[in-house]
Amino acid sequence: MKSENKQPEIKTNNQKQIIKENEDKEYAQLVVVKPVGYPFEFNLMDEDIEITNTALFEEYAREQWLGLVVKESTYIFDQKIIPDYGFEIVTAKPNNSMISETTKIKIITDEIAKNDTTKVKSNIQLSDIVGQKNAKSKIKVIIKYLDDPESFGPWAPKNILFYGVPGTGKTMLVKALANELEVPLYLIKATSLIGDHVGDGSSKIHDLFKKARENSPSIIFIDEIDAVALDRSFQSLRGDVSEIVNSLLTEMDGIVENSDVITIAATNNPSALDYAVRSRFEEEIEFKLPDDEERLAILENNLKTMPLEYNLDMDKLVKITQGLSGRDLKEKILKTALHNAISNDSDIITMENIDYAIKSTKIKNREVKGMFE
Ligand SMILES: Nc1ncnc2c1ncn2[C@@H]1O[C@H](COP(=O)(O)OP(=O)(O)O)[C@@H](O)[C@H]1O
Ligand SMILES: [Mg+2]
Repeated sequence: MKSENKQPEIKTNNQKQIIKENEDKEYAQLVVVKPVGYPFEFNLMDEDIEITNTALFEEYAREQWLGLVVKESTYIFDQKIIPDYGFEIVTAKPNNSMISETTKIKIITDEIAKNDTTKVKSNIQLSDIVGQKNAKSKIKVIIKYLDDPESFGPWAPKNILFYGVPGTGKTMLVKALANELEVPLYLIKATSLIGDHVGDGSSKIHDLFKKARENSPSIIFIDEIDAVALDRSFQSLRGDVSEIVNSLLTEMDGIVENSDVITIAATNNPSALDYAVRSRFEEEIEFKLPDDEERLAILENNLKTMPLEYNLDMDKLVKITQGLSGRDLKEKILKTALHNAISNDSDIITMENIDYAIKSTKIKNREVKGMFE
C-alpha cells in the first residue's frame, strides 16, 4: 500500500511546507507516543481513548504527522478524529528527526503495557444497573449477536435509541456493555461534533463510522444525540447541524455497507430529534425513573461504598425521594448528606443529613415531581 521509498509522500500544501522547512532533518526510524489527553478540560469525550488496533493507529498517525519533527518529551496533537488530543513523545529515534513514510509509530497505554488487548474501560457491570429491564434485554441480544453475527443474517440489530429522563442510566448501561464485550465500542458525545467550521462535524462522523467499520464488529455510541440531530425546524438556526444530520443519515443507512456496526444513540429528548434520523432506529427503548423498589436498591448499592457508617430509615428515605432519578439519588441526596455529615465532624450519616440534602435540592425536586407525577 505504501511505497518503500524513504521520501515522504507529500499529501497537502501544508505538509509540503512543513517538510520543506524540515528538509535538513534526518528521517525518524521509530517514534513511541503515549496518549496524555487534552490541553484543557471540556468534556469532549467521556473516557480515555482506547486503541484497539495498533497497526491501524500507526497508519493513521503516520499519515497525519508526516513531515513533523519529533523530539523526546515534547507533545504532538491529533488533528482528525479527536482534534487537539495530545500525545507525549516518549521515544524518537533519532531524537529531533522527521516523521517519514517509513517511520514506525508505536503507541503505549497503561492497558497495553499490562495486557495486549485493551477492552475494559470501566468497572461498571451490567448488574450494577438497577431496573431498565427492556434496555437490558436489548443489550443481551446485542451481546448474543456479536458472539455469532452470521446466525442473525439480515436480522441483525443495527440502530437503537435509548431515551428518557436524565440520570436514569443510559450512559451507564452502555459503559457496562463495553465491559462485557470483546469488540471495540466507540463513544462520542454529540456535542463534541459541533466544531468551529461547517463540515467539522460531518467529517468527524464519517471518520468515526469508518474507524468502526475497519474494526468491526463494533459499536458506536452517540451520547446526547439531540445536540446534533435536531428536528428540521431547529436546523435553520445552525447550518452545520443540518450537514451533520445528513451525514448521520448516510452513515446509518449503510450506503457504504455498515457490516457488523451497531449504532446506539441516547437522548433525554427524543421529540426534538430530526424525524428522518429518528426513523432510522429500529427500536426506541425508554429509560424510566426508578420505582420504590428500584430506588431502595440504588440507595443501598451506593451506601455500601460510603466512607462513613450510616443509620437511616430506609422506608422513609425511599418515600421522600419519589420522582428522583438514579443520578439525583446518588449526587444530590447521598453525596450532599455525606458531605454534610463530614462537615459536622460526624462519623455517621443520619436522617438529619438526608433532610439537609433534601432541603438543598428542594427546587429541583419540586420541578421533577411537577413534571412526572
Ligand atoms: N438505573 C440505575 N441504576 C443504578 N445507578 C443509576 C441508574 N441510573 C442512574 N444511576 C446513577 O446515576 C449516574 C448517572 O447516570 P447516567 O447513566 O449518566 O444517566 P443518563 O445517561 O441517563 O443521563 C450513574 O453513574 C449512576 O451512579
Ligand atoms: Mg447520559
